Amino acid sequence: MTKITFSSKTIADIERAKTDCLVLPIFDDLKLGKFAKKLDLKNRNLLMRYFSLGDFKGKIGETTSLVSATMEQRRLLLIGCGKRSKLDQKDIGKICSAIALALNKTAAKDVIINWIDFSIPYKDLLSSLELLSTTITKHQYVYDETLSKKRDSLKLKRVVVESSPRTTLTSQVRRLRQGQAIGEGIILARNLANLPGNICTPSYLAAEARKLARAHPRLNTRILNERQMTNLNMGALLSVSAGSAEEAKLIVMSYTGTSKSTPPVVLIGKGITFDTGGISLKPGGKMDEMKFDMCGAASVMGTMHSVCKNNIPINVVGIIAAAENMPSGNATKPGDVVTSMSGMTIEILNTDAEGRLVLCDALSYAERFKPAAVIDIATLTGACVVALGNHATGLFSNDDQLAEQILSAGIDSNDKAWRLPIWEEYQKQIKSNFADIANIGAGGAGSITAACFLARFAKNYRWAHLDIAGTAWTSAPKGATGRPVALLNRFLNDRAGKE
Ligand code: BES
Ligand code: MN
Ligand code: ZN
Repeated sequence: MTKITFSSKTIADIERAKTDCLVLPIFDDLKLGKFAKKLDLKNRNLLMRYFSLGDFKGKIGETTSLVSATMEQRRLLLIGCGKRSKLDQKDIGKICSAIALALNKTAAKDVIINWIDFSIPYKDLLSSLELLSTTITKHQYVYDETLSKKRDSLKLKRVVVESSPRTTLTSQVRRLRQGQAIGEGIILARNLANLPGNICTPSYLAAEARKLARAHPRLNTRILNERQMTNLNMGALLSVSAGSAEEAKLIVMSYTGTSKSTPPVVLIGKGITFDTGGISLKPGGKMDEMKFDMCGAASVMGTMHSVCKNNIPINVVGIIAAAENMPSGNATKPGDVVTSMSGMTIEILNTDAEGRLVLCDALSYAERFKPAAVIDIATLTGACVVALGNHATGLFSNDDQLAEQILSAGIDSNDKAWRLPIWEEYQKQIKSNFADIANIGAGGAGSITAACFLARFAKNYRWAHLDIAGTAWTSAPKGATGRPVALLNRFLNDRAGKE
């Protein structure tokens, strides 16, 4: 994959700007902005004549590519933007996706985007640039790791966004490049998640983490093996990998972006590289999709990449609890009782509820970092897909302020979450006769009881849990989305801005 160069320029004379493709945002009133008007004159009113045919209505997400009558610009790419008056973050997200997808259908190598004709309020201008470069970057990704013939790489090399006079050129360029690093993090997450379970094992994830640390001087990686986890009494995590030939790994990545004494944000990813369900075996249909059960881990890795690239002034620790959940003669059985690192005993009533078992020990381990906040990210429950579908990630938290910050980061990054309760009433559902707690809840609300289980291990710090079971991948076409890398980056950047 070749890397795109993003830049921002003040273009005095748009008709003279040379480019393979000029991207023009058009609202549904079909009124041309200052630059588009000039351009249209040069093009013998091509746009106005085209609009009068009635094919293009300026509806949000609508796109058309026209050949330009001028020599300087070879194509004009019209992007429908919908209603001028009600342009919100969601619309900008749709416009960015439309631009990215339409560009991929052309053979254009360099493009100029006429962002200036947008009436985006000042506050949102920079964040719209970030969203634009993130979206263009992430759509450059094609999976070909396990194909004998590599796919043709995309053509796009250079993106120039017309700069706005409302803020400095430097800050606009910086924000475009920041967005690009977020897009790269999304690609990294998508690619790891798309890899099959026979390649992407816990050891593979560990090697990837080491690779990341080699590339970034501010990142250190430490990997705990099963023996070291035994010494830490991580009986819950180890019970999940008991049936697997693959060794479990606890991967710890520490990024130091500010003074060492500043408490870090800890991100914990569920890294089940394949979830068969264990002895509580899953049915065969769509079981292949359980290679995606490490999407939480992939999102932590992708986020660490973006954070490093952007050198953000904050400390972040990424922890990945990596294991494979398999049935075998050594596997954990329903009814087995294990002791977690916290000392709490757990009755494993269903070996398919393994995510919470690896996460609970990682949550206890996180205490040693005296964290400012801990966020775990997990493809935890099928019930979350029932509750929220593919649109929103499930959010649970023991801290209202943290929950609010995550919700608003989700809106700003077009990577939404929705909060569900973890009230005391639900805790009764995970009572056990034979241990301190059971690993599944009786009586519905499966996503909430799973979160209640985790909450028992997250009492000593501010904590949030993101259930990405519905948002981390799609089934048709099959593939990882890279969510919630954009949300996590927005959250961390907002936080870094305040510190
Ligand atoms: N990884 C699954 C959750 C999952 C299932 C995510 C389907 C996306 C699609 C998790 O480990 C699991 O199996 N959860 C069980 C919990 C149950 C046994 C209480 C589930 O959701 O069925
Ligand atoms: Mn499972
Ligand atoms: Zn699972």
